[in-house]
Amino acid sequence: MCGIFGYIGNNKQAADLVLTGLKSLEYRGYDSWGIAAVNEGGRILLEKKTGKIGAAEFNFKNHSRIAIGHTRWATHGGVTVANAHPHLDCTGHFALIHNGIIENYDEIKKALLKIGHRFISETDSEVAVHLLEENYKSLIKKNKTNSQDSLFVEALKITFSSFRGLNAVIVLNAKNRTFGAAKNGSPLVLGFGNKENYLASDSQAILPYTNKLYFMEDQELVLVTKDQIKVFDLISGKEKSIKPVSVSWKTETEDKGKLPHFMLKEILDQGKVIKNIVTDSDENIKKFASLISSSFGTYLVGCGTAAYACLTGTYIFSKIAKKHVNFSVASEFGYLIDFLTEKSLVIGLSQSGETIDLIDVMKKAKERGVKLGAIVNVLGSTLYRMTDNKLLLNAGVEKAVVSTKAFTAKIAHLLLIAYALTGDINKGKTELRKAVEILEELFKPSSLNAIKTLATKLYRHKNIYIIGRGISYPIALESALKIKEASYIHAEGFAGGELKHGVIALVEKGTPCLAFLPNDETYFDTLSGVMEMKARGGFIIGIGFKNHEVFDEFINSGDCQMASGIPNVVVGQLLGYYLALCHGVDPDKPRNLAKSVTVK
Ligand code: F6R
Repeated sequence: MCGIFGYIGNNKQAADLVLTGLKSLEYRGYDSWGIAAVNEGGRILLEKKTGKIGAAEFNFKNHSRIAIGHTRWATHGGVTVANAHPHLDCTGHFALIHNGIIENYDEIKKALLKIGHRFISETDSEVAVHLLEENYKSLIKKNKTNSQDSLFVEALKITFSSFRGLNAVIVLNAKNRTFGAAKNGSPLVLGFGNKENYLASDSQAILPYTNKLYFMEDQELVLVTKDQIKVFDLISGKEKSIKPVSVSWKTETEDKGKLPHFMLKEILDQGKVIKNIVTDSDENIKKFASLISSSFGTYLVGCGTAAYACLTGTYIFSKIAKKHVNFSVASEFGYLIDFLTEKSLVIGLSQSGETIDLIDVMKKAKERGVKLGAIVNVLGSTLYRMTDNKLLLNAGVEKAVVSTKAFTAKIAHLLLIAYALTGDINKGKTELRKAVEILEELFKPSSLNAIKTLATKLYRHKNIYIIGRGISYPIALESALKIKEASYIHAEGFAGGELKHGVIALVEKGTPCLAFLPNDETYFDTLSGVMEMKARGGFIIGIGFKNHEVFDEFINSGDCQMASGIPNVVVGQLLGYYLALCHGVDPDKPRNLAKSVTVK
């Protein structure tokens, strides 16, 4: 969470450059944004605003060759201008931006207040800049011989080492016109230019300027000037020799064309994405299949939508490959890893490859010597870099905060891996091709209009319940998530069999009840659940391969056997999208969310 961008060099439009960088990072948080630059007299110029950056502009009176900026996803403190980053120390020497959570901020703040520091915000982040000011001041007092740069590095080292939690901070030192940054957990990338340097939370923001990158490791600290970047070990304080990498990655840009939202574009992209997966080389699919078959226990781990893809995977592997794979939500997996051994395999699934709950637990598994794999969309992301075995989703940039095509791309890959385990990868490809044909039908204007009309019938309801069994259970969960996050309607997915164990108490006359009924062994059991809901007055929306008289509404999602989760979830995605429109929500940036969740 939180986008970070910094520039230092000869370009006098540093602040504009930072604004451009922030726009490309806004998906990391859009509660507020802010930029700090330095005028010729060494004074910090600050611009902070709440809300999305959109077409924001600003007018610093002086041009600056150094600037940092931040887009915020609020953790500590509400969405206000005061709480927006950067934060300044009492003397106007330092401007600081932060990503993460300083877990022990309250005790540090109390101590700083006692010695007279003035706080403007309610954030944990602001303590960092005041503590830095304090540490720098006392080092200056004690030490007259060392250079200001080395005292700055030392002060930042002491300051950062007092924080508990996973954090990254970047400090603009207005007097020396340098940046200092330290990291433990949250991602930071440095870009090496010609007499100019860059710093960002994401390589994509730097790639338009340079492809010479260094991905900071945890427990590293850097000092950045326009001419050089020095990296230090945070524990020993010793300078490290590092090698930047020259990457051949391109800046991935995505245009929504004439479509009103990225979410719709990305839903409609899914046919093409799956077609590409089918025609891609099988090499990595087979590699993952052999990794799984040679491991003693495979665990699929992810968060949110990625977690539901993992859960879908457990059904896919059981049905197709007769193989038990385990599933865990990444934030819980850390409490379950005591039994992992060197023979275990943990596969992290992620769109961004930056989700901290996942990265954190992958690191813990790595420390136990466990084999790691990654199924990830973003090339060069932390997850991509930390694993030897990686499979790129190749779904293209996903811009809408609500994840869609990355989910179906994960399902398609898991399906092919499961079929590869049986030695019949082509069967998987046939099913995926059939899924593409069904999607083409679903994306015809008449089908889209039918779902849109359905949304207009449902949007005034406060609750929507969704059931599915077997592979359709995680599809019900994922569809409910799409509806919740895009439209703010309370939607809940259930295992069809659980209905009568409590949930049915919520069904009353007119309650919208969605049921997934693909052509598989779950059909008749799910249909019984549908009857039970109907008997209580539920308004039944059947999604499946054939209509039934019990349905009040029916959406045909065809039959593509084990790939049926793909068209079924697409119906859920479209319903979420159209419900969002009915509620006037921007489905690309729903409230309170961020595309990349890099705090715990
Ligand atoms: C839901 C959504 C989130 C993400 C989750 C994991 O639409 O986008 O639930 O799926 O935050 O993100 P990644 O896949 O980037 O690890």
